[in-house]
Amino acid sequence: MSAVETDVTEIKDIVAKYPTTKGGIIAILQEIQERDGYLSPEALDETARLTGISVNEIYGVATFYSFYKFNPPGRHVIQVCLGTACHVRGGAKILRELERLLSIKVGEVTSDGKFELNRIACLGCCALEPVIAIDGKFFTRVTTRKLPAILAEYQD
Ligand code: FES
Repeated sequence: MSAVETDVTEIKDIVAKYPTTKGGIIAILQEIQERDGYLSPEALDETARLTGISVNEIYGVATFYSFYKFNPPGRHVIQVCLGTACHVRGGAKILRELERLLSIKVGEVTSDGKFELNRIACLGCCALEPVIAIDGKFFTRVTTRKLPAILAEYQD
C-alpha cells in the first residue's frame, strides 16, 4: 500500500469520529495536524470529499484559526521568547536577526526545511533573558552576535 493510500485511510478514520458540523471540522483538522504536523492541500481536499463540505468552507475554517499550519514543520523548531523580561532585554531584536539570517518571517520554515521560526510568550526562565529554544534546548543571555554559532550547531 502506498503512503497516499495509507494517508487517505487514516483521514477516513479521523473523519468518522466527528460530526460534519463546524465544531466537528475543527476537531478533524486538529487531529490531522497532530498526526502530520500541518494541513496539506491533499488532507484538506480529502476532508472535504469525505465530509461532503466544500473545499472552500474547509479552508475557511482552517484559515480562521491561527493554530493551523499549512506548511510542513521545519526539522528544527526555534522559539524566540518575547515575554516581558525577554522583550525588555532585546527579544524582538533577536527575532529580527533570526529572520534576517534565515531569510524567513516568524511562523515560516526555511526553503530547505531546516528551521522553523516561532515566537513564544515565556519560556519560564525569565532571569536568563533573552532566551531562545531550539528543539527544546535553551540558549540564554542570547545576543545577535551569538546567533550564527547557535544556528551552526544544527547541521542536519
Ligand atoms: S519572558 Fe522570556 S523566559 Fe520568561
